[in-house]
Amino acid sequence: MNNLEQLIAQATADFTAATGIARLEEVKAAYLGKEGSLTALLKSLGKLPPDERKTAGAAINIAKAQVESALALRREALKNAQLEAQLAAEALDVTLPGRGPIRGSIHPVMRTLDRIEQLFRSIGFEVADGPEIETDWHNFTALNTPENHPARSMHDTFYLLDAAGKVREDVLLRTHTSPVQIRTMLAHAEKYRHLDSMPEIRVICPGRVYRVDSDATHSPMFHQVEGLWVSENVSFADLKGVVADFLRRFFESDDLKVRFRPSFFPFTEPSAEIDVAFMHGPMEGRWLEIAGCGMVHPNVLRCGGIDPEKYTGFAFGMGPDRLTMLRYGINDLRLFFDGDLRFLSQFQ
Ligand code: PHE
Repeated sequence: MNNLEQLIAQATADFTAATGIARLEEVKAAYLGKEGSLTALLKSLGKLPPDERKTAGAAINIAKAQVESALALRREALKNAQLEAQLAAEALDVTLPGRGPIRGSIHPVMRTLDRIEQLFRSIGFEVADGPEIETDWHNFTALNTPENHPARSMHDTFYLLDAAGKVREDVLLRTHTSPVQIRTMLAHAEKYRHLDSMPEIRVICPGRVYRVDSDATHSPMFHQVEGLWVSENVSFADLKGVVADFLRRFFESDDLKVRFRPSFFPFTEPSAEIDVAFMHGPMEGRWLEIAGCGMVHPNVLRCGGIDPEKYTGFAFGMGPDRLTMLRYGINDLRLFFDGDLRFLSQFQ
């Protein structure tokens, strides 16, 4: 092997030994750079006698071309290897199944509220709404609740602070949905002020209410649905019919027992507590309190702008949280408000 062949072989071996592009460029300089061995050979041509120069020059140039092509091959191979390594590192398995958005579901209490609205709409009730931050007047005074009534105490009701941090006595978180009765009656009376005889009021008022209370069956925030029917001659018999029929339809149980137990509320007279008893299932035969009700007190009608000599009304307030617990057999109210998806997703 002559010198040139040796040089080509050495260059090719050195190129192959270079394991990265940067190293390859350094090796290249040793052959083809300004100080490289091939460059030195070309420079030395001038020292040869003129008749040898041509053949020697041609041989060196062929060798140079071979070194260059060996370099190009190696460069290409290194680039490909680099690309493959990168592709392998960033590999995506496009055959993996996608992670779609998780399906939400309707909260069990909202399901109950929807159902209650649907059943009452079917007998001509509309849905009315009121604020959760309520005035003391709407929540208590207009509902015939005396100044010293225990429900008004700080232990039972959440009051709000003013800018200076002092408790305000005029606004609070409503403790029941009954203030919506007052708002509904006032708006209705105003709307039909010009008529001798106003059309009847038939509404339910679902919503959140607040009390200072927390255990397995009480939460500081819970739900109520108020019902109000005011008309020229609505009676306690209508109240019994509407509520008993609703409860039987709600629980899909024709033989559900419904009992009206005398009770007291400042805003109704007479008043009753409504109990139900199931004839089947784990709760069979046990009386469960489900709602309060009564004939709207004349003072309350008056505060609503309605003449108690001309109109009568009945009202009821029930707990949809309790209804939901009974319907689905849930024993802890707090489960509704913990936001645990393992619980909530069972209601899809
Ligand atoms: N507001 C009462 C309560 O929260 C329930 C009720 C409503 C009773 C309407 C009678 C009439 O306990």
